[in-house]
Amino acid sequence: MTEAKKVFIKTYGCQMNVYDSDRMADILAREGYAATDRADDADLVVLNTCHIREKAAEKVYSEVGRLRVLKEQARAEGRQLEIAVAGCVAQAEGREIISRAPAVDVVVGPQSYHRLPQVLARAKAEGHAVETEFAEDKFDHMPASGSARRTLPVSSFLTVQEGCDKFCTFCVVPYTRGAEISRPVSRILDEARNLARRGVRELMLLGQNVNAYHGAAEDGSVWSLARLLRELAAIPGLDRLRYMTSHPRDMGDDLIAAHRELPELMPYLHLPVQSGSDRILAAMNRKHDAASYLRLIERLRLARPDLALSGDFIVGFPGETDADFEDTMRLVEEVGYAGAYTFKYSPRTGTPAASHEEQVPEAVKTERLLRLQALIEAQQKAFNAAMLGRRIDILLEKPGRLPGQLAGRSPWLQTVHVDAPAERIGEIVSVVVDGMGTNSLFGTLVEEMVLQKAIA
Ligand code: SAH
Ligand code: SF4
Ligand code: F3S
Repeated sequence: MTEAKKVFIKTYGCQMNVYDSDRMADILAREGYAATDRADDADLVVLNTCHIREKAAEKVYSEVGRLRVLKEQARAEGRQLEIAVAGCVAQAEGREIISRAPAVDVVVGPQSYHRLPQVLARAKAEGHAVETEFAEDKFDHMPASGSARRTLPVSSFLTVQEGCDKFCTFCVVPYTRGAEISRPVSRILDEARNLARRGVRELMLLGQNVNAYHGAAEDGSVWSLARLLRELAAIPGLDRLRYMTSHPRDMGDDLIAAHRELPELMPYLHLPVQSGSDRILAAMNRKHDAASYLRLIERLRLARPDLALSGDFIVGFPGETDADFEDTMRLVEEVGYAGAYTFKYSPRTGTPAASHEEQVPEAVKTERLLRLQALIEAQQKAFNAAMLGRRIDILLEKPGRLPGQLAGRSPWLQTVHVDAPAERIGEIVSVVVDGMGTNSLFGTLVEEMVLQKAIA
C-alpha cells in the first residue's frame, strides 16, 4: 500500500474560490490525497488564486518563489513537492506562469478542476509543466460536494451559477470565469439534499451573478433563482437560505416575491451598486442608474421590511469627480447599509477602464475610500447596536472564542457569541442580545434566562 499523499490548498479571493478549493479537495481525496494545512509537509500545493485587483499575479509569483525553496528542500530529502496554480490568475496568465515560474508543475483554470488528477499525472509522466485548456463541462465531472470530509460546516456554500456576461468596464471576471452558465436544477437539488442529510442547516448559493440563474430542469423548463429557492426551502433540514452575489439588473419580480414569501430566505442581501453617480455608473457599463437601484431597494424592503443590505463600492473609477463621489456618499446615506466592501479602483490590463485617460490620483482615491469607509462603519455599528435587547434566532455554527462558548449567526449574518455546549452546534436557538464587540454581538440563550429566573 502506498502512503497517503498530502495536499495543501491555499485559497485567495471570493467565496466561489473557497467552494472550488473544497471541490478540488474532494477530487484529490479520490486519488488518495489527505488535506494538510502546512505547505512544508505536503506532496502537492495548490494555489487557488484571485485576479480581481492589481498585483494579484505578482503575489502568486512571489508565493511560488517561496514554494520553490520548499520544493528544492523536499528534493534534497528524496521527496517530491508538486506545485499547481489554479483559479483566476491561472485562467488569465496561462502559459505565462509556466514560462516565468518553472517550479510550477500544473496550471489549471477554474473550468478544468475535474481534470486536476489527469494533468498532475501527465506532468509527472512527461516530466514538464502542463496547462489545461478551457473546458465547460466541469460540473458534470465533479464528485459530490463534501465527499472528502467527514464533518461539514452547518452553513455550506453551493455554487449554482458561474461566469458573467455583464462586462463592467473595470472587471476581469468575465475573462477569468467565462460566460454565464447555470448548473442544471437536478444536480443542485441532489447536492443540497445530500448536504442536508449530512447536517447542513444553511446554504449560501454562489454565483458571480447568482440572480441571473436560469437552470435547466428535467421537464425541459428553465428555472429562475426564485423557483430554485422555493424548491430548496422545501428540503427537510435546510432552514436557512442565502445567495450571493447579485446584480441589480437581474433582481426579478419573482425573486423579490420570494423575499416576502419564504421564511427560509434570510433577510440579508448583498447587492453591489459600485457608485452613486449616474455618469460613473454609465462609464462602468453597470446598466442601471442610482434612482433605479434605490427604487429596487424600496421594493425589496416593502416585500421584506427587516431586510438588511450590503454592497460593493469602487472609489476613484477613472473620471470620478468630487461631485460624483458625493453622489456615492448620498446614496449610502439614503440606503443605510448593514455593511459593505469598499475598494479603490485598480486598473486591470485588458479591461476598457484601464486605458481611460483620466485616472484618479492615488491620494484622492485614499481620501475618498477613508470617508466612505467611515460612513459605512458608522452605519454598521448603528445596525448592530439596534440589536441590543432584542430576541433573535441564531444558528450555532462553531466553537466560540472562549471555552464553553459557541459562535452563531443571526439572520443578518452577524456573528453572535453565546455560552452553550459544543453538542448544540447545528441548532437554531433563540438568544437575547446583551452585548456588542467591534465585529460581533453577545447573546444569552433564552432558555437559560428562564432557568436563571426560576432559580432566583
Ligand atoms: N459578480 C460580483 C462580484 C465581482 S468582484 C458583482 O458583480 O458584484 C467583487 C467586487 O470587486 C466588485 O463588486 C467590485 O466592487 C470589486 N472590483 C472588481 N474589479 C475591480 C477593480 N478593477 N478595481 C477595484 N475593485 C474591483
Ligand atoms: Fe464583474 Fe460586473 Fe460581472 Fe460583477 S457584474 S462579475 S463586477 S463584470
Ligand atoms: Fe477573484 Fe476570480 Fe473570485 S478574480 S473574486 S477569485 S471570481
